[in-house]
Amino acid sequence: MYGLVNKAIKEMMIQEYGTNGWQAICEAVDLENDHFINLQPYPDELTYQMVTAAACYANQPVPDILKAFGHHWIKYTGQNGYGDMLNLGGHDLPTFLSNLDRMHAGMSHAYPELRPPSFRCETLSPNKLRLHYQSEREGLPPFVIGLLEGLGEYLNTPLRVDHSGPCDLDQNCEVFHIDLLEEA
Ligand code: HEM
Repeated sequence: MYGLVNKAIKEMMIQEYGTNGWQAICEAVDLENDHFINLQPYPDELTYQMVTAAACYANQPVPDILKAFGHHWIKYTGQNGYGDMLNLGGHDLPTFLSNLDRMHAGMSHAYPELRPPSFRCETLSPNKLRLHYQSEREGLPPFVIGLLEGLGEYLNTPLRVDHSGPCDLDQNCEVFHIDLLEEA
């Protein structure tokens, strides 16, 4: 994945576990140079290894780290040059989700090797959405849950996300149900 992603992981880990924790994670994955370049693609393997090493270091399951990273990604992109992009996506969740593919596609000038996910959002009722997430990568549904929860916070939209499992017809596709909760 692009360095932007790895940089955000590094920032989250330093915030969570301090520089000593981050150094331990770098050693665990034999990472000699941790100066990631936003616009440079890195092997997916490295990103997965960093997440696995963090889970080991923190004694937490990998899905919990991925979910936390989903929350962090929304804050990180908002504060590191992509706030306008988040603002332009839409001010309500269904609109935002239906613009996500366009948003990722719009980045392909700067990130020509981007292999973005694809999302399709259906409104089942005024308070219930069904989201189809397609990716060539495995194991990232917990990241998507964290992203959706983070997006809910960003848009001031309380919500609950359930990962319902794979689509019937497409093995690269996962289904999520989102309940939009009434304001307390
Ligand atoms: C302005 C905000 C955002 C930026 C700049 C951004 C950018 C990126 C970049 C650079 C990647 C790495 C892809 C690669 O290197 O091939 C990525 C992956 C991903 N993005 Fe976004 N993204 C943003 C917001 C979102 C949001 C709001 C969601 C979903 C709610 C999302 C879902 C994902 C997922 C799930 C991946 C992992 C790749 C995969 O599933 O195969 N992104 N994004």
